[in-house]
Amino acid sequence: MDTFLSHLQSALQPDIDRVLHHPFFERLNSAALSRQQVQKFALDYNFYCRSFPQLLGYAAAKIADDQIRMPIVENLWEEHGEGDITRSHRQLYTNFLRSLKLSDEQIETSVPSTATARYIQELFDICSTGDFLDVLALVGPGTEYFASREFEIILSGLEKYPFAQDLDLEYWSIHIEVDDHHSSDTLKAILPFMNTDSNKQQVLDVSRKTVELEIYFWDEMNRYVA
Ligand SMILES: [Fe+2]
Ligand SMILES: [Fe+2]
Repeated sequence: MDTFLSHLQSALQPDIDRVLHHPFFERLNSAALSRQQVQKFALDYNFYCRSFPQLLGYAAAKIADDQIRMPIVENLWEEHGEGDITRSHRQLYTNFLRSLKLSDEQIETSVPSTATARYIQELFDICSTGDFLDVLALVGPGTEYFASREFEIILSGLEKYPFAQDLDLEYWSIHIEVDDHHSSDTLKAILPFMNTDSNKQQVLDVSRKTVELEIYFWDEMNRYVA
């Protein structure tokens, strides 16, 4: 493996482990939450899910070159159900919310927790103030690199609930399939620029900041779903 990549991965691993072994996931996986608590988590997570294609759009806007932008464009295309709007990830997530017995009115009138609103804003801020390497670091090593493992943990947690047979879990399972290629394609776009120490440091710093923001997101989610 590329030396920079293995350095990046080992530098990020402690923070990634903090996400993957987060107390909230442990609660979710021990089926310790009530249906109301799962609903509360799901409604709040919806705001992150809804912001994600916009975040990718911000990221795309920072990349001048077609080939380097391609992994973001492909990711965005998949977010939109590859052209089938009934398969967009927003629609799949709405299917999940409805299967949790949330009404459309509950979904439409919900508001994000303060922490989730702040988390999303911080991600947008990185994209709006950053350059192409910042946005690639945010999307690739900062997010997609461990997303499939994370979604596997959430999915296996949700499957443990007594009401699991009613749940539409495709939103969670679909990411286990696609996020590894989102990660490797984005890393491939980054690698040609890892020829200076300052670029390497930049990618490491933004990746780490993104993972740390996610730890903040789950810490706060754990408190919010009390
Ligand atoms: Fe998605
Ligand atoms: Fe993805």
